[in-house]
Amino acid sequence: MAFDKKRFEEVISEFTMDTEELQRTAEAFQREIRIGLEDAGKSSLQMLKSYAGLPTGKETGEYLALDFGGTNVRVLRIRLEGGGKFEIAGKAARPLRVEGEYDYICAEAKAEEMFDFLAGLIEEAVEGDREKKYFLGHTFSFPSEQTDLYNARLIAWTKEFATQGVEGKVVNDLLKEALERKGLSNVEPVAVINDTVAVLLSASYKQDDVYIGSIYATGHNTCYLEPHADAEGRAMILNLEAGGFDKVSRNRFDEKVDALSDRPGTQRLEKMVSGRYMGELLGIALGSLYEMDEMDYGFTSIDMSEMLQKEGSIEGIVSKKLGKVPDMEECRDIQCLARVIAERSARLVAATFVGTMRQLSGKEPIKKQHIAVDGSVYEKMPGAKEYMASAFLELLGEDAGKVDTVLDCGGSGLGAAIAAVVSKQ
Ligand code: GLC
Repeated sequence: MAFDKKRFEEVISEFTMDTEELQRTAEAFQREIRIGLEDAGKSSLQMLKSYAGLPTGKETGEYLALDFGGTNVRVLRIRLEGGGKFEIAGKAARPLRVEGEYDYICAEAKAEEMFDFLAGLIEEAVEGDREKKYFLGHTFSFPSEQTDLYNARLIAWTKEFATQGVEGKVVNDLLKEALERKGLSNVEPVAVINDTVAVLLSASYKQDDVYIGSIYATGHNTCYLEPHADAEGRAMILNLEAGGFDKVSRNRFDEKVDALSDRPGTQRLEKMVSGRYMGELLGIALGSLYEMDEMDYGFTSIDMSEMLQKEGSIEGIVSKKLGKVPDMEECRDIQCLARVIAERSARLVAATFVGTMRQLSGKEPIKKQHIAVDGSVYEKMPGAKEYMASAFLELLGEDAGKVDTVLDCGGSGLGAAIAAVVSKQ
């Protein structure tokens, strides 16, 4: 038994984004950047200053990098060797939440506990060394108001993080205090950057022609090198907080995901495209097809990838999450639904890249460039890169040949180390 055909087609068309809408999205994104450059308060893009430009590629030395922003935290000891080369000399990594054991990101968790946990990982990465001086770069992947490379104040949590006592605080001050509590005053946090900025720094340490960095993972966001970022007309990387872009047309499922989230009304684009929410969208849409409640059935983007890769996995996943056993025809329909959700996500992201490139090129043709992207959705969601490439073709025609997206895997760590060097120059 397949789903009611009319209802199924309706759902598919609600998630389908044609070329015209793609074009409108790219234009709206460019407009929001333009408005934001004049007055960030008037745009849904926050245009946050990073106080970092692009590296020269010649940076050298051993630095610590703290990569904090998803469910996993990593601390790396990185040796920059210049010429785009580096080596990982030490590493510690652990999730911020282990079901039934601990949870540092829920609303009951306190800032002190969270930062003590981070300091513990740093201790592990330096193998307990309390003598040698270490400068630490911190990739902190949340919207932060910066006044320089060190001072970054968390504006508001995103991605359903809810730990008390961090919003409004200078995150590196919290980290410094925790390091002191651990007796690790030889470790000095010197720079904070957003993960998008880290990806851009890391990619341009290794190659030329990169001006845009993006994360396409649990969350989604983009930054770019703005040639005239301050009153003196200096170039600086701006963190757009693209996930907050709100000139998007939402369907009823997007609205439901938003209504069920911690902060309804915020992060509209992010809730349509990122890994944290994509599985939930699928679950809610399936709920509607089965005429069940439209609620969060716990589908994740990992489930979605699996369902796209192996039709054979669908029956098991759907019966476990929804308590319904789909027949073969339904499995095919479910795969098709998962595909349109993933495709819409990639097309939306591509449209924002085009808006950014057009803003950068002004009246000139778009420059030849690589867009640096990191993140599990980009890396692992079947079709993501191909959907993006075909959206570029639709929007840019021949110019699409000048642009490609490149995976900058692990850029968050390397970027933090580069930021630490830059802060010392
Ligand atoms: C969320 C955060 C943003 C981050 C992105 C990717 O959108 O607000 O700062 O860059 O997730 O991790």
